[in-house]
Amino acid sequence: MKQAILPATTHRCNDMRSATFLFALLLLPEAALYSSEFDLAVGVYFRKHCISCHGSKKQQGEFRIDTLSENVGVEDTALWAEVRERISSGEMPPEDAVNPPTAEQNAEVVEWLSARIKEGEAARMATRRRVSFQQHRVGRPIDGRDSRRPHQVRFA
Ligand code: HEC
Repeated sequence: MKQAILPATTHRCNDMRSATFLFALLLLPEAALYSSEFDLAVGVYFRKHCISCHGSKKQQGEFRIDTLSENVGVEDTALWAEVRERISSGEMPPEDAVNPPTAEQNAEVVEWLSARIKEGEAARMATRRRVSFQQHRVGRPIDGRDSRRPHQVRFA
């Protein structure tokens, strides 16, 4: 009798665990919607310190940050590099800006942008190597032109 009860209890316990697990899975996409990696790392900083002059209302220097791709390192790379330069040089936000970020906050954003840009560059290098390797393998004639050129143009 006792032995019959024990496995049944264990079984119910497992059911409960998987139900909890499924429930957690259901919640996950919701969480991802509200806190992208971009938002957590730099989105809040840009909204607080840059968007008032580079957003939908004002475009100082004819520059908007809110329309740049959040896929940093992959898209809008030249513009994100410009943003990083302006922050690391201390030019942005301007000296007279209200509630300026701390030096540490600036450094964190610069570091995060640098890491994404570096990752993106590494990924592109790997693709370039793969493409040129495949071209050699299929015996494409060497016509004197640099086969990697088309991949570099966008980020030159
Ligand atoms: C109080 C207004 C103000 C704030 C806040 C501000 N900027 Fe600017 N920004 C300007 C002005 C004015 C210019 C144009 C003059 C210049 O290039 O220095 C400019 C120019 C720029 C440019 C160059 C645009 C181009 O292509 O010529 C970039 C990049 C930039 N800002 C990034 C930022 C970033 C990043 C922040 C937040 C950390 C920021 N700005 C915050 C006023 C502001």
